[in-house]
Parts: sequence; C-alpha cells; structure tokens
Amino acid sequence: MTSGDLRADRRVETARALLDSGDPTAALSVLEQTLELTPDWPELHFLIGEAAATSSHRDRAVAAYARYLALSPDDRLGALPHLALLGATPQPDGLPPAYVAALFDEYAPRFERSLLIGLDYQGPAQLLQAINSVSGSDTVFGSVLDLGCGTGLMGERLRKVCAWIEGVDLSPAMIAQSSSKGVYDALHVSELTAYLANDTRHFDLVTAADVLIYLGDLAPLFAAVTRRLVDGGLFAMTAEAVETDATGLDRRLRPSRRFAHSADYLTRVAGEHGLVQRCHKRTVLRRDGPDAIEAHVMVFERVRAGDRLHALSPERPELVQQEVPEDQTAGHHDLGDQIEHTKMVDQ
Ligand SMILES: C[S@@+](CC[C@H](N)C(=O)[O-])C[C@H]1O[C@@H](n2cnc3c(N)ncnc32)[C@H](O)[C@@H]1O
Repeated sequence: MTSGDLRADRRVETARALLDSGDPTAALSVLEQTLELTPDWPELHFLIGEAAATSSHRDRAVAAYARYLALSPDDRLGALPHLALLGATPQPDGLPPAYVAALFDEYAPRFERSLLIGLDYQGPAQLLQAINSVSGSDTVFGSVLDLGCGTGLMGERLRKVCAWIEGVDLSPAMIAQSSSKGVYDALHVSELTAYLANDTRHFDLVTAADVLIYLGDLAPLFAAVTRRLVDGGLFAMTAEAVETDATGLDRRLRPSRRFAHSADYLTRVAGEHGLVQRCHKRTVLRRDGPDAIEAHVMVFERVRAGDRLHALSPERPELVQQEVPEDQTAGHHDLGDQIEHTKMVDQ
C-alpha cells in the first residue's frame, strides 16, 4: 500500500509498527499527522479507523471508516463490517465482494495449510457425510455446482461421486489453486448469487462449504439455488451456528467479521424458497484460534413440483408453504451434452 508520497508512506510504516507493538494511541497520533500530507488517501483513513477503534476512540473510528468508504466505495478493505460492529450502521446483508475477493486472493497460497492443519477444518468431509446420509453412499450425481469452491477441498471429495462438477468463487487466486488440481470440469470467477442468477442450467447437487459465513441475508441465495436445482435436487451447506436471541435476532455479524445463523433462520428461509430440510447436524467444523466454532451441516431438497402445494413434513408445514417460481426446464438434467473432459476456467 503506497500513497505516492514517500514521507506519508514512511509515517504509515511507523504507525503500523506502533500498532503491532500494542501502542494504538501513538499510532493514531502519527496517522492523524499524516493527513496533512495525503488527505485523500483511502487506506490512510482505514488505518486511522483501525487505530482509533483499537484505542477506544469510537467516534473517530466511525468517521475514519466512513471517509474511507466515501473515497473507496468498492470497500476492498472492508470498512462496512467495521462500521456495523461499531454500531454505526445496521448489520449488512453480506460482506463487500471486493473485500472477500481481496481477503482470499491474499490468503490463497497458505489457505489449505492454515485451515487444514492450523484450524483442523472438517467442512468438506462432514458435508459429504451428510449428503451420503440423504442420498445413499452409492449415489452418483450427474451434475454438481460447488459455490465458493475456494482451493477445491470440497471438489476433491465430490469428484468421485459425480459425473460433472463446476466451481464458482470470487477470488481469482483461490480459483487458480483449484484449477491447478484439475478436479473441476469448469471453474468460474464470480460472485455466487450473481452467477446463479445469470446461469440457466440445473444441477443435481449444489454445495456451499464454509461460504455462507460471508453472507448475512440468505434469502437471495436460497431463491437462486432453488431455481438452479432439478426437482428433488439437493443443496448441502455449512454455516456458523448462533442461537436466536431474546429480540428475535437470528443471524449475526461476529467480531471475526463472519456471519453466524440460527438453525431456525436457515430452515425458515430455505422453506420460504421451496427447500425442505433433509439433514441437520450441529457440530464443530473448525477452530478460530483456540476456540471451537459450532456449525450447522444441513442438506435441503428442492421440493418436487407435484409436492409443492402439500406439506411434506406435517410437523413443519411452513417448510413448503411457498411455491417455487416455475421454470420451464427445471427437472431436466441438462448438462448431459457437456460431460466431456475439457477443463475450462473463465475469469
Ligand atoms: C473459507 S473458504 C471455503 C472454500 C471451500 N468451500 C472449502 O470448503 O475449502 C470461502 C470461499 O468462499 C468464497 N466466497 C465468499 N463469499 C463469496 C461470494 N459471495 N461469491 C463467491 N465466492 C465467495 C471465498 O472467496 C473463499 O474462496
């Protein structure tokens, strides 16, 4: 990160060193002085936000993050979640795509080592187990779409149980790691809800392992997934778990800047979009430092057309109360023609 002004860059280096050494007040003072050199440098305002928040100057932090956002609306550094966590804005519906992409582009080279070894990540193994418990372990899916495929850990598990698998992810560097494994038949760099909205094909299985933690409001995602599933197709996902609180809040942005969702929220929103729950396991899928992170592992099924107006689950009639928007081609496995062993990456 450079401002184009050497003196400003040096001051920021000093401020970073002060922040790292645990002196945010001194860092804040150096950063404030730097404003006279580069008043419109977005990253400087973001750093002021960090130093001010860490030294308990909340209002200064809010002003600095807001200024960063005004100067840099794509929000690559993620000021929006900071503003929400400071209580200055409502909880966002998701994290800024540019922020997530930048985060994972930087993380990609060490992602697997860090997650598998450092954080004992179990997501793909547990999700496949849940899928098998619903579909039977000898099922071979015709077509699978892996949302937020990352470096391909889920794809590696699914490759053996499907004829065709595509992955979609915001981060080009994560997609490049996936691509190098040769696990996916096609890979796409895209925001996942936008990708689903623009696609016209139908899949037998859609997966999202450790991805919903970057989305707060899941209604658009569930709606888009339902439209891209064949009748009877499965949506298998994991989410960080939280309890609905006394005020009825059922999804929460955590200080980790990841979202957690309650089981009630997931089941309700899925049901509103024509997905009925087939499996729910509450378990630990990874750690965050020393803390075990409780998670949901869930598999939903797209309600078959003939069943949509009837409650499939008499004790949970709300699960199927809403009609899924009909789609002429739903129910057909329309990837058959494409099952050839070409590998393609579109970016
Ligand atoms: C924690 S990683 C999980 C990767 C993989 N599913 C796994 O289990 O190893 C989350 C991935 O989701 C991607 N991601 C997050 N939000 C996304 C979005 N809205 N659209 C597309 N990809 C997204 C990130 O870029 C990242 O690669």
